[in-house]
Amino acid sequence: MGVKGIILAGGKATRLYPVTKAVCKQLLPVYDKPLVYYPLSVLLLAGIKDILIITLPEVKEQFKNLLDDGKQLGISIYYEEQKVPAGIGEAFIIGEDFIGKERVCLILGDNIFYGHGLPEQLNIAMKYKEGAQIFAYYVSNPHRYGVLGFDEKGRVVSIEEKPQIPRSKWVVTGLYFYDNDVISIAKSIKPSLRNELEISDINRVYLERGKLKVSFLGRGYAWLDIGTPEALIEASMFIKTIEDRQGLKVGCIEEIVYRLGYITKEQLLKLTQGMGTPYFEYLKQIAQG
Ligand code: G1P
Repeated sequence: MGVKGIILAGGKATRLYPVTKAVCKQLLPVYDKPLVYYPLSVLLLAGIKDILIITLPEVKEQFKNLLDDGKQLGISIYYEEQKVPAGIGEAFIIGEDFIGKERVCLILGDNIFYGHGLPEQLNIAMKYKEGAQIFAYYVSNPHRYGVLGFDEKGRVVSIEEKPQIPRSKWVVTGLYFYDNDVISIAKSIKPSLRNELEISDINRVYLERGKLKVSFLGRGYAWLDIGTPEALIEASMFIKTIEDRQGLKVGCIEEIVYRLGYITKEQLLKLTQGMGTPYFEYLKQIAQG
């Protein structure tokens, strides 16, 4: 049994208006590539090859223009619509047929993960056959997120969505691995006050069943989520700084699939044909070894 991947790229992104009034947030540039490349690269690094992208109906074609059916990357990409922003939990209902009987990894389309050791963390999560695996990160503004609470032994005992008084500064990031039970759990939970199927409610079910594993991403990681104009430019600056310093790209999906052996050197070069930007010049260099 494998693990299917879902990227949830729904939502109206009103905190970025007017920027996102007519343009989808997850297609906005974060420095030199569209935002969605970063979560897609996380799924690729996990070794996931079947990926469903869930978008608002009006932007589905734009995503297809960008990523097509994935064959050019040696993977399969499918598309479904989320008609209204009804919550992250709805992804498992929309994606029910796609998931089938397998496990699933969900990543939010506006989340960027960066850090040494991420592929190893993903590998561990990929091997779990049962339960849920989430990733926590220490932030300065926990009230905006799903917040973890701990007992005196440091065990996770609660998850609260956007609490006024956060119990800790450890919050749940937008990367989740689940066994197949997630579909029935998503169907069983009720919408929250903001009328969404909350991912925190799903995680709480796993917690109560004693089947929630939490991996803590320490100080050596960057986790960014792009909700505001500040976050957008900060993410761009962050990526640019690292890429300039190393001459290596972050979230470069074509490079990743080439290094994973999903596409040949010839296929990689074909993707760069007629393209003159530094992004594609970089890929040409990768192909030439
Ligand atoms: C969502 C989740 C929250 C999580 C966050 C991560 O928040 O509900 O638990 O911490 O994503 O990005 P939202 O984007 O709906 O505000």
